[in-house]
Amino acid sequence: MVLDLEQKTYFLITGASRGIGQTMAIQIAAKLKAGSVVVLLARSVDGLNKTKLAIEALKKDLKVCIFSIDLTKAKESEFEEILHHSLSDSDEEGKNFERAFIIHNAGSVGDVSKRAVDVSDTSAWTEYYHLNLFSTVSLNCEFYRKFIGVPKLVVNLSSKCGIEPFASMSFYCSGKAARDMYFRVLAVEETKDSIVLNYAPGAIDTDMTELVQKETINEDLSAAFKQQRDTKTMLTTTETTAKFISILESGNFNSGDHVDYWD
Ligand SMILES: NC(=O)c1ccc[n+]([C@@H]2O[C@H](COP(=O)([O-])OP(=O)(O)OC[C@H]3O[C@@H](n4cnc5c(N)ncnc54)[C@H](OP(=O)(O)O)[C@@H]3O)[C@@H](O)[C@H]2O)c1
Repeated sequence: MVLDLEQKTYFLITGASRGIGQTMAIQIAAKLKAGSVVVLLARSVDGLNKTKLAIEALKKDLKVCIFSIDLTKAKESEFEEILHHSLSDSDEEGKNFERAFIIHNAGSVGDVSKRAVDVSDTSAWTEYYHLNLFSTVSLNCEFYRKFIGVPKLVVNLSSKCGIEPFASMSFYCSGKAARDMYFRVLAVEETKDSIVLNYAPGAIDTDMTELVQKETINEDLSAAFKQQRDTKTMLTTTETTAKFISILESGNFNSGDHVDYWD
């Protein structure tokens, strides 16, 4: 099955202020049909505005809405409001779109300075999981409520860390594994009008990998990232976004699959 992205789409992406999410937002917006709505979420209003300006510079007839929200604290009512406002601002109702497309991209790596035996602070886990799992699930549920009957494309930004353990990454690996499994369950339940993809983008040159390189107690991992940076071989957000779009457009995966940049 080939996925045509050039449809009248409601497109929402989290973590759209920088990094992979910013590039994906712009590159996907460039594909959408006139009349589509693009909704960008993150905390930084400056970053969101930069993404919005880049999309507006495409000079396509798209409505771009930004919402600053802290996903470590967000509640389901806030997601409901965001969906409601983004639709009412554009004089559209959910059912008027050919597709509703969501990318759950926002994420954090957690404390990589500690081993798995040293992470006993339950408040740190609660905050980590609120951002990386609870908000993702809650937003996804509100999205489904809003777009009943509309064909849906749902993407989770996953990682190799969701399927393979890495020292120092107990927050990140466990969070990504949980997130992948939620979307796999979604895929087996929602077979009628949904396509679900867990996309692992590869190691990308962003703030996230810089933080890992600086703070991890996993010396091999830090050295590997340093080597990739020094030799300019680390993948860019543009490269992984191009691959991601080609995977979507080829449609060469089953709903719920975990697909890696390197597959
Ligand atoms: N980079 C990699 O090598 C790599 C590899 C595998 C998977 N991934 C995954 O790809 C996704 C994007 O990664 P990235 O490297 O682009 O990360 P990044 O550069 O650190 O960007 C993270 C994005 O998430 C948003 N975010 C972080 N905390 C937030 C919060 N509390 N509330 C709302 N938004 C928040 C940030 O926006 P604000 O700061 O403005 O809120 C930003 O837009 C993540 O899910 C990551 O796990 C990345």
